Amino acid sequence: MSNHKVHIFDTTLRDGEQVPGCKLNTKEKIELALALEDLGVDIIEAGFPISSPGDFHSVEEISRIIRNASVCGLSRAVKKDIEVAAEALKHAKRPRIHTGIGTSDLHIKAKFNSTREEILERAVQAVKWARNLVEDVEFYAEDAGRTDNEYLARVIEAVIRAGATVVNIPDTTGYCLPHQYGEKIGYLVNHVNNIDKAIISCHCHNDLGLATANSISGVIAGARQIECTINGLGERAGNTSLEEVVMVIKQHADLGFHTRVNSQKLNPVSRLVAETMRMPVQPNKAIVGSNAFSHSSGIHQDGFLKDSLTYEIINPEEVGADGSKIVLTARSGRSALAHRLHKIGYSFTRNDIDTIYGKFLQVADTKKEVNEEDLQNLAKAYLASTVEV
Ligand code: KIV
Ligand code: ZN
Repeated sequence: MSNHKVHIFDTTLRDGEQVPGCKLNTKEKIELALALEDLGVDIIEAGFPISSPGDFHSVEEISRIIRNASVCGLSRAVKKDIEVAAEALKHAKRPRIHTGIGTSDLHIKAKFNSTREEILERAVQAVKWARNLVEDVEFYAEDAGRTDNEYLARVIEAVIRAGATVVNIPDTTGYCLPHQYGEKIGYLVNHVNNIDKAIISCHCHNDLGLATANSISGVIAGARQIECTINGLGERAGNTSLEEVVMVIKQHADLGFHTRVNSQKLNPVSRLVAETMRMPVQPNKAIVGSNAFSHSSGIHQDGFLKDSLTYEIINPEEVGADGSKIVLTARSGRSALAHRLHKIGYSFTRNDIDTIYGKFLQVADTKKEVNEEDLQNLAKAYLASTVEV
């Protein structure tokens, strides 16, 4: 069976950094860029050089340091933007300019007060300017998710002819359903004559919670690059989460794809990004949330303690998490109680546990979680009650 490489394009430092409150200074950006390189991403979108002198400086410094990933700078389809991006990237070993323009009728009319033909010409011109400055040029068709497929195919064919090496099909507003996004990529694969000369990229936003599903659907339909961020950070409801797509591809090896990412570094990098950006991760977040490997209901705990595979599809070590946790609440069962008591040194019989369990529930009903101190108290009280006088 064929096994295709999916390029991981990380945009934590650009789309992720657009989140209010997540702005990074150059030192912080460099630290995260090095962690992303070490994680094994293929492309680091380091910033939007024309947006501010600070971001220009960050892209320039990241370009000097990163050697094992392409470094990418964003631009609009504007000559000055493209020239500034090239300047910021001049020290990069593998520089990439990411340029593009809105292609949906809504963007063409509302944002540009223009026409489809004029936008197509501007797209081609932008790619030509960029190709005069660097070898690797990615074109984005902003709001491709809501762009008419026939027109989108014409734009994509024209920008590839102009020299685009990667064509990004963003679902900018997170509007598409997974089958629609997959069909869009499939349409391009089948209707763009020169599509074999470029890599198709997915850039899906999470407004309906479908970013990961849409990106995977895109890859199944022929895309070979996913744009994503650590912890799913990004505009509004965020971007496709890097850790999710990497683990979907790894868990479903039968799909025939792989990435270069070292999954054991996912949790450490997630924590670093959360701390540096001061943006905590929701506890129930897949792969990197603090509850991703916690079991608290009696039925789950009992099964998990008999065989972890009953309730865990990923070994926490595989993603660098601390390990599975048995959390005690009023919904927990006797097996979990016995397990946690055993961990702090008490080996009780089944009958002992039956008795302690009644007391445990009384405590658990008054609290969110029964902690180690509560367990010590329960065990000691039980032992004291059994001492003959
Ligand atoms: O969401 C989007 O369309 C973007 C582009 C600039 C690639 O972030
Ligand atoms: Zn985006």
